[in-house]
Amino acid sequence: GRCVVAVDGPSGSGKSTVSRRLAGAIDARYLDTGAMYRAVTWAVLRFGIDPQDADRIGKVVGEIDLEIGVDPQAPSVRADGVAVDQEIRGPEVTAAVSAVAAVPAVRHLMVARQREIIAAAGRIVVEGRDIGAVVAPDADLKVYLTASADARARRRSAEYAADVTATAADLARRDTFDSSRAASPLRQADDAVVLDTTELGIDEVVARLLELLRD
Ligand code: CDP
Repeated sequence: GRCVVAVDGPSGSGKSTVSRRLAGAIDARYLDTGAMYRAVTWAVLRFGIDPQDADRIGKVVGEIDLEIGVDPQAPSVRADGVAVDQEIRGPEVTAAVSAVAAVPAVRHLMVARQREIIAAAGRIVVEGRDIGAVVAPDADLKVYLTASADARARRRSAEYAADVTATAADLARRDTFDSSRAASPLRQADDAVVLDTTELGIDEVVARLLELLRD
């Protein structure tokens, strides 16, 4: 039956791996909302638009054609017909995504799109920053994953085969940006279950979530 799980938290908290594994375990679809903001950012950069130019971004965002694949075994994203799964993880998009994601018109459109995808799927694990609080306040389970800054930087650099010091600096910059703005996307829903994953392996986190779903 219908089951919506919202997984929120900062970068490197383990959201992606945990969400995909959980989706596989409960035979649900999987939506990476960060990939949607990254794909929009990729398109904005390709148009040659300055990622700080909120007005221009707001004017073009409606013309970007996003196709989101929600198979947890092979999530995919296409922007204007181009498969951008690799490009959206690159340093250019990563440096610009927080600014683009802060543009109200971008959030408005993405949240609407996410709600459509959730309604169509029925059974889905959705990961992001604002899923439990904004996108799917009626989710069946809301999880908020945290981890120490150190653990998050280590995971991120391993995932991207990147330097840990540079990754730590990038995470700190995005954390500050995301939490210093009134419009920060990162929201902890009042009714979210908070899980600190610093000392927990993926299997342990997934097992805990399966337990919560059974209750
Ligand atoms: O995991 P990581 O933070 O590297 O990236 P992500 O989950 O792919 O999200 C990339 C960026 O998109 C975040 O830093 C946020 O600025 C933005 N984002 C957002 O505003 N709202 C969401 N629901 C998800 C991501």
